[in-house]
Amino acid sequence: MSDDPPLIAMSLWEKEYTHALIDETGEFTVNIPSSKLLKQIWLAGTRSGSKMDKAKLLKVSFTTSSTIKVPGIEECIGTLECRVKDRMKFGEQILYVAEVKRACAEEGLFKKGV
Ligand SMILES: Cc1cc2nc3c(=O)[nH]c(=O)nc-3n(C[C@H](O)[C@H](O)[C@H](O)COP(=O)(O)O)c2cc1C
Repeated sequence: MSDDPPLIAMSLWEKEYTHALIDETGEFTVNIPSSKLLKQIWLAGTRSGSKMDKAKLLKVSFTTSSTIKVPGIEECIGTLECRVKDRMKFGEQILYVAEVKRACAEEGLFKKGV
């Protein structure tokens, strides 16, 4: 949404467990998977963490974030550490606007700094 400060927008269905966790902590990470994680992506998007430990199901581990309290996913190739600045309800969706406090990605993915 914005470069300075770096802002992203993200919407979630109100009924999802992820939405409850973001409201509780005011933070989230966006974890960018490679195609190697295709099976895990499907599992993560079709099961709810309200009823099971999804990290165990997906066989992924967590990394400690530098700028926020909630963790990232070790197996992903990039992570954005985000703090919620605003939220708005649109129908059954909650739209979050969040500031990206830190962005990192695997070094080998950069070409000339991009
Ligand atoms: C490929 C894919 C994309 C999805 N995209 C979204 C999305 O953009 N927003 C959303 O609210 N749910 C999306 N979903 C659905 C959630 O990922 C799904 O309801 C998930 O089980 C919620 O888990 P939770 O209850 O642990 O938060 C998507 C699912 C799949 C499989």
